[in-house]
Amino acid sequence: MKREQWASRFGFIMAAAGSAVGLGNIWKFPYLAGTQGGGAFLAVYLIIMATIGVALIMAEIGLGRAAKRNPVGAFSILGGKKWMVTGIIGVTTSFMILAFYSVVGGWTVAYIVKSIFGTLHVNEPDLLPGQFNDLVTSVGEPIFYHGVFMAMTAGIVLAGVADGIERSVKVLMPLLFALLLILVVRSVTLDGAWEGITFFLMPDWSQVNGPMISAALGQAFFSLSLGMGAMITYGSYLDKGANIPNASYWVVFLAAMVAVLGGLLVLPAVFAFGMDPAAGPGLTFITLPAVFGEMFGGYIFQIIFFVMLLIAALTSSISLLAIPVAYFAEEFGIRRSVSTTLVGLVIFAMGVPCSLAMGVWGDIKFFDMNIFDVTAYAVDNYTLPIGGILTSLFAGWVILERLGSELTNEGKLRFSAMPAFTWLMRIVAPAAVLWVMVSNLLG
Ligand code: PHE
Repeated sequence: MKREQWASRFGFIMAAAGSAVGLGNIWKFPYLAGTQGGGAFLAVYLIIMATIGVALIMAEIGLGRAAKRNPVGAFSILGGKKWMVTGIIGVTTSFMILAFYSVVGGWTVAYIVKSIFGTLHVNEPDLLPGQFNDLVTSVGEPIFYHGVFMAMTAGIVLAGVADGIERSVKVLMPLLFALLLILVVRSVTLDGAWEGITFFLMPDWSQVNGPMISAALGQAFFSLSLGMGAMITYGSYLDKGANIPNASYWVVFLAAMVAVLGGLLVLPAVFAFGMDPAAGPGLTFITLPAVFGEMFGGYIFQIIFFVMLLIAALTSSISLLAIPVAYFAEEFGIRRSVSTTLVGLVIFAMGVPCSLAMGVWGDIKFFDMNIFDVTAYAVDNYTLPIGGILTSLFAGWVILERLGSELTNEGKLRFSAMPAFTWLMRIVAPAAVLWVMVSNLLG
């Protein structure tokens, strides 16, 4: 059977950028920047993206193309059975992330519907927190929307790599950039936006500290979809002639740019209307609708905003689903369509307790956290960092030569950053991630 391939270089870059750009950039990044000191957080985040982030994404894409397999198959083909566990951690992580990611994706669908029908209490901001709370804590409504979101995700993956994923991202990603630009222009031209802009762009270096660096590193990993095989899977559909370093620069650039634009969208608006930038996760669903309520043309901008958020979430969730789908299809010989349907159903089922954890199952606690939080916590603090450390050690010490030939297309391309790549994979990335993991454990 012929393995599927991306039909174009542009398609691959849009798919990989689509995976990277997600709720992480637009929902999480602005509130992290808001709580972690603004500009200094942005600076640290960008430095990490441009060094460890670039190197690791190249390594993952290269690994995928070298093996032409899902992450589990890739690690075992290239490194032998003992490395397979790295891939298994990755596939497991994809289930965990998608379970809760799809719940949040469902909230965005719900907010699009509510925005269109005008049922959000945008003119009574005091009621917005309660309204958000009502949605996420109830039983049927969020599970219904979680199902809608999973169905959309599975529908795209079901259509195939080139005909499903690539076709949709080629339309959705440019649309996302356009919608985002419209919103940013609106936000930075509001009266009083300046304070938010300077808060976000002017680093106050006294804010740099251990927990902040650790948050920036975790955010860089999550927002580049690293450490769990998403880029290995996407890289496995890349043809031999593609220039991996070049594609990687593009993906990191686009992901970083969307995080910057996300900040420029959310923070100036929040400052302009005197809201609290450190409001945390509720910033997107509670604070922004209040801002839209006071803004001229807010009805339209609010719909645009939640549509954009849905696109961002969807182009990431398809990359998450593509991992286990490839794994079960390739390692167990299951048809792709069957694999997609089954995995989709299992992840839908796993999302149900995550959703209920916001409300009726909120008292079921592990290590003092509800099911939703403990899943996200385990991913952020354990499986992604461990996957990232193992992947960089593997790239730097086990198959460096093979990777080098992958990154230069067998010596046909010049890749002058190879020495930097080598050191980042061998020492810098594993050491930095290990330091973050340990300090989180102790802190
Ligand atoms: N990068 C996505 C985001 O920022 C999340 C993601 C993580 C997607 C891992 C795929 C794999 O929202």
